[in-house]
Amino acid sequence: MNTPDQAPPARTITLRVNGIEHTVGIEDRELLVDVIRRRLTLTGTHAGCYNGDCPVTMNGGIVKACLVLAASADGAEITTIEGFSGGAGLDPIQEAFWAEDGFQCDFCLPGQLFATRNLLDSDPEPDERAIRGALSGNICRCTGYVTVVRAVQEAPRRSTVLSQRTLSFALLGC
Ligand code: FES
Repeated sequence: MNTPDQAPPARTITLRVNGIEHTVGIEDRELLVDVIRRRLTLTGTHAGCYNGDCPVTMNGGIVKACLVLAASADGAEITTIEGFSGGAGLDPIQEAFWAEDGFQCDFCLPGQLFATRNLLDSDPEPDERAIRGALSGNICRCTGYVTVVRAVQEAPRRSTVLSQRTLSFALLGC
């Protein structure tokens, strides 16, 4: 008799993850976080316990991958933390967290980064209260949040520097 792990997949779904299409066999009860981590081996999405560790974007909105049945994500466009910057380098938000020591063990980092992007998309210059409110779903056991707040405040400055640099290179024809 097959154990659940040995049972043949109940269904096949297709996910577009970080721009790459994957067709995977899954169990009906399987969670999106487990498909991302175990079947696609994208382990930057952490399997925590509702602390904000497993966020991904699904069709443009942030979801906690541990609260989504993989079957319901069939056909979805997903971005994990591995695809956060959209390229080889760091996104300005990641640069800011790095520069301001906005993390230590990094367990909470995916959640902090996705929540920061979400906040800055609607409020490019948030005050400390807005930052703490926007990140309140992400529990960090390491930093005490002071450096996290500083990182979020720093991120828009890095975005501006980056776009000025890109504009200069474009004007120089680089
Ligand atoms: S950096 Fe360790 S939990 Fe936030």
